[in-house]
Amino acid sequence: MEDRCCIILAAGDGKRMNSANPKVLMPVLFEPMLGWVLDSVKEAGISDENVGVITGSSADKVAEYLKKRGKYHTFLQAERKGTGHAVMQAESMLVEDISKDVLILCGDAPFMDAATINAAYKLHKEQNSDVTVITANVAPAGNYGRIKRDRNTNLLSSIVEMKDCSPDELKITEVNSGAYWFKAERLLWALPQLRDNNKSGEFYLTDTVKLLGKNTSTYMADDSIIVLGANDRKQLRELNDMMTELINSRHYAAGVDIIGHNVIIGKDVKIARDTLLMPNTIIRGKTEIGSGCVIGPNTQIDNCEIGENVTLNCVQAFDAKICDNVKAGPFVHIRAGTTLNKNVKIGDFVEVKNSEIGEGTALAHLTYIGDSDVGKNVNFGCGTVTANYDGIEKYRTKIGDNAFIGCNTNLIAPVEVGENAATAAGSTITNNVPPAALAIERGQVNIKENWYKNELRIKKDKKSK
Ligand code: UD1
Ligand code: CA
Repeated sequence: MEDRCCIILAAGDGKRMNSANPKVLMPVLFEPMLGWVLDSVKEAGISDENVGVITGSSADKVAEYLKKRGKYHTFLQAERKGTGHAVMQAESMLVEDISKDVLILCGDAPFMDAATINAAYKLHKEQNSDVTVITANVAPAGNYGRIKRDRNTNLLSSIVEMKDCSPDELKITEVNSGAYWFKAERLLWALPQLRDNNKSGEFYLTDTVKLLGKNTSTYMADDSIIVLGANDRKQLRELNDMMTELINSRHYAAGVDIIGHNVIIGKDVKIARDTLLMPNTIIRGKTEIGSGCVIGPNTQIDNCEIGENVTLNCVQAFDAKICDNVKAGPFVHIRAGTTLNKNVKIGDFVEVKNSEIGEGTALAHLTYIGDSDVGKNVNFGCGTVTANYDGIEKYRTKIGDNAFIGCNTNLIAPVEVGENAATAAGSTITNNVPPAALAIERGQVNIKENWYKNELRIKKDKKSK
């Protein structure tokens, strides 16, 4: 049995966000703030089953999100009576094993990281403390609870909420991050003793510190960024900007270049070194990019696996696999279920959906390929379209190696073009084309010599001039 568990406070409503969604589901770099916290907890080595989330505002939405993420427990706090009251809702989880250590986090502080959590835990165990408060240095300290220390011993004596501070206490710059390690047994002892006789009329979790007396300690985070949360959209934007900088910095350290502005990278994206990201590029989801690529400008990539030395200029790619040395762009849409094998070349205004494109194949211009299996070194002329949908069902198109598809060919699926075969420009191919054949499927020319309307037209033109 694990000896650590975690309670995440996520009942607040965040009225100032002016959203239909609760605050903890507001996104930072496309992921709800609560998701960042859950990831840090997981990374710190605490498994889902040992995490309880306190819900309140839009509890059903939070529960639905948690269900998608893992086997988390939820505890409903029907009335918001403060952080101490919130923790009390998870009492049943605490009494299960009172010898555990319990981590308490705020669901709206997305910068809290696994390294800080575990460093604080290490100190908590070494000092054998009843509670270890994770603190940070923030000047000016704003609305945060102030860390008060004993004048003689300099040990933590209490946490004073901003509203309850004296003018002198307001000047303190060491603040409470809202994250703590507690011995479950001691937390259970202190919680029922909390009172709501303060300026907010709430049961403050922070008052447990005073109750626990001497056996308390603090862990000061290396970076005060861990305390940050957002109360309104402007602050949420600031968090997004800071997180962008933080993530981009990690990529610089990993040997990735970013030039210009507006390069936004999601938290789970992996990029190998010597890849260059150009302006106005968004990379998100579980995307992995190999080395030596040039991605952007004006590119969006979601959930893609991208090989080495790939060039994507002005490309939108979703749930696709793009292999080494592929060049695509500008104005290219790669849709779900597509694999572009090595050395594929894609030019302007091309869309590929749910298709396998073989090595070295070229789709140079104005082409739609959907639900197709295309071989190696196929050449698509300008304006090729696979007609994959008859309005009822979708069908596949198969094209063999070294085929040559003439300009403006329509391929009416289901249909096959054999290896080394060709289609004549402007053909609408409705029958399978055998290997090495040429298929011409278009209207025959019908010449009417000296057509009378031509004469009428030319006369009219001359008159009007
Ligand atoms: C709290 C701390 C403060 C600390 C700050 C860090 C207390 C009394 N104060 O203040 O010392 O500096 O966090 O951000 O704990 N929540 C519930 N149920 C409630 C009340 C709050 O689940 O009844 C949740 C909120 O959704 C939020 C977290 O607890 O995720 C913190 O609550 P919030 O109201 O933001 O506390 P602060 O006043 O910021
Ligand atoms: Ca807060």
